[in-house]
Amino acid sequence: MVTEPELSPFNPESRAVPITQGRLMDFSDNPFTCMRRLYRTHGNIAALEEQGQRLVFIFGPQYNQQVLSDARTFHSRFFAIRGPRNSSQRRLTCGLLSMNGEEHKRHRRLVMGPFQRKSIEGYRDHLVELAEQMLADWQPGQVRNIFRDMTHYMLRVTSSILFGFDLPELAYEIGHMIERWVAMNHELGMGAFISDPGITSAYSKLLELAEALEAKILAMINLRRSLNSQGNDVLSLLIQARDENGAGMTDAELIGQASVLFGAAHLTTANSLTWNLFLLAQHPGIASDLVDELTENLHGEAPTLEQMEQLPLLERAIKESMRVLPASAYSQRINVEPVAIGPFQLPRGTPIIFSQIITHPMPDLFPEPERFLPDRWLGMTTSPYAYMPFAAGPRMCLGASLAMTTLKVTLPLIVQRFRLTVVPGATINGQVRSTMLAPTNGMPMIVSEPTAPFVASRVEGNIHEMVELREADGATAGQERAA
Ligand code: HEM
Repeated sequence: MVTEPELSPFNPESRAVPITQGRLMDFSDNPFTCMRRLYRTHGNIAALEEQGQRLVFIFGPQYNQQVLSDARTFHSRFFAIRGPRNSSQRRLTCGLLSMNGEEHKRHRRLVMGPFQRKSIEGYRDHLVELAEQMLADWQPGQVRNIFRDMTHYMLRVTSSILFGFDLPELAYEIGHMIERWVAMNHELGMGAFISDPGITSAYSKLLELAEALEAKILAMINLRRSLNSQGNDVLSLLIQARDENGAGMTDAELIGQASVLFGAAHLTTANSLTWNLFLLAQHPGIASDLVDELTENLHGEAPTLEQMEQLPLLERAIKESMRVLPASAYSQRINVEPVAIGPFQLPRGTPIIFSQIITHPMPDLFPEPERFLPDRWLGMTTSPYAYMPFAAGPRMCLGASLAMTTLKVTLPLIVQRFRLTVVPGATINGQVRSTMLAPTNGMPMIVSEPTAPFVASRVEGNIHEMVELREADGATAGQERAA
């Protein structure tokens, strides 16, 4: 650690100064391309600098560990605008992602209960019911936008698990509002940092949207309270939660946590489900082996919690899918005191970006990194700072077990009931939006009977920059595998 007067923009001892002078907007416009260029130019640590303002990027396990394991020095500063005191915007941004220090620890303990195994057991049946309802609408011969299906499904799941209601219309409405709100926060957060003159007009729109969103969330909370029942949904558990001094959450705190949970849960999981289904469809051999494993053990049904632990190929396929196409592509920290990291000596308050989408395909960590090879995980252990779809350290995703349970219930039901084939020639684009890797052109797939062959399709789009679409056994797109 260095003291303030000795700070210099970079360590003069370092021969190569890993700084690219450029537009900071390049990062917000296309995070993946910008980060990959920085990584290829400079290696595991780099900065993008414009007129003295700097974003620092860290890639790889060593720097990830330094930053993510030290929550005291590196604070979370989610890309949210706090808004005026006593405003809806301020209350909505009072969730875990924006908290640090003791406040974060206390709230993490309060929020943790509903995400532990005992509570998750209770959510499994909701998941099965909602997945069955979704699949009841699917018919062989249809072309479906699977991303849209997964998003709608996850909105219902989130609303049912978080609030204890399955009110699809309200869930869709809140979900869409949260998506817009998260995106606006993100753009404005970045705009404020780079002093974009266009942001002031967007600020008042953000405050308006926050008011409308808060009113909806508050209506959910009040409805839950009025039912006066001891539900096992997350909101009921949060209403009942008490810390060691017996203190519970205020309404404002509940609003903050509920909005973060809703925002953090639905899109990340919908993206993961979609990327999983895409990668399986494009790898017929792996998909065929997976369906064999599932039908042998589950006979067309969803796994129980015990069965989930005994489906090794399902486990590896999900793990590998989250490595190749991680739903959470990057996130940010800010150092609250001057700190040395690699060749940089950073003044307090420097934004530091860490990234799964750059760390996961490092060839020294994962040979043939751009291939989807679930079997690479056979007997392989790796540092939690090298493979980190849910991040790592004291702020690791609180919903990781719930997300994994959702994937392990939903994917088996889908792939046992239907054969999914990507529409030949479709453009599949992955773009990082509000820190998440989403299929921005949707995911058009043909739904067939489960007896149909497994076929990989030729597709267009920037997906080829992220994953090498070729079968583990050498088969290429366009080839079939009998069911
Ligand atoms: C596949 C799905 C998911 C992925 C990939 C994912 C990923 C992540 C990542 C990478 C972080 C760390 C962000 C950071 O450090 O800045 C995080 C944090 C968090 N996630 Fe998730 N998440 C998923 C699902 C969920 C679900 C289902 C919930 C809850 C219902 C959830 C709740 C949270 C919360 C509350 C945090 C903040 C934790 C803290 O700051 O202490 N996530 N998630």
